[in-house]
Amino acid sequence: MRQLIVRKSNIFFVMAIMAGSIWLVGCGQAGKGDDDPARALIESKCVQCHSLKQAYKKRSSGEWPVVVDRMVSHGADLSAEEKAQIVAYLQAHYSK
Ligand code: HEC
Repeated sequence: MRQLIVRKSNIFFVMAIMAGSIWLVGCGQAGKGDDDPARALIESKCVQCHSLKQAYKKRSSGEWPVVVDRMVSHGADLSAEEKAQIVAYLQAHYSK
């Protein structure tokens, strides 16, 4: 009888750990850098000429600085600091 109780609490313990890791994984995905200030920057600066879907196309991380530079040459209004922030964000979240 005593053994059964111990086993049950083991199962509970394992389930609690599993629930915890699902929660952590879930947060990692939902997070996707949503609270990153660079995201707000992209959403205000990169929609002037095309959709966000276009801006969030996956590129290799080496391509991002080139693409963002090209956007500046098209007329995107970005300071050097904003450009660096955006490139870092896109490399972290939208790289192939
Ligand atoms: C002044 C207008 C303008 C702004 C602002 C702009 N873009 Fe673009 N974008 C373009 C044009 C025009 C094209 C299509 C021609 C090309 O690819 O260069 C394009 C194409 C793209 C492409 C697809 C091309 C490729 O090689 O993958 C991506 C990705 C992109 N833009 C990302 C961005 C991001 C990120 C921002 C914000 C930093 C941004 N754009 C802001 C004009 C703009």
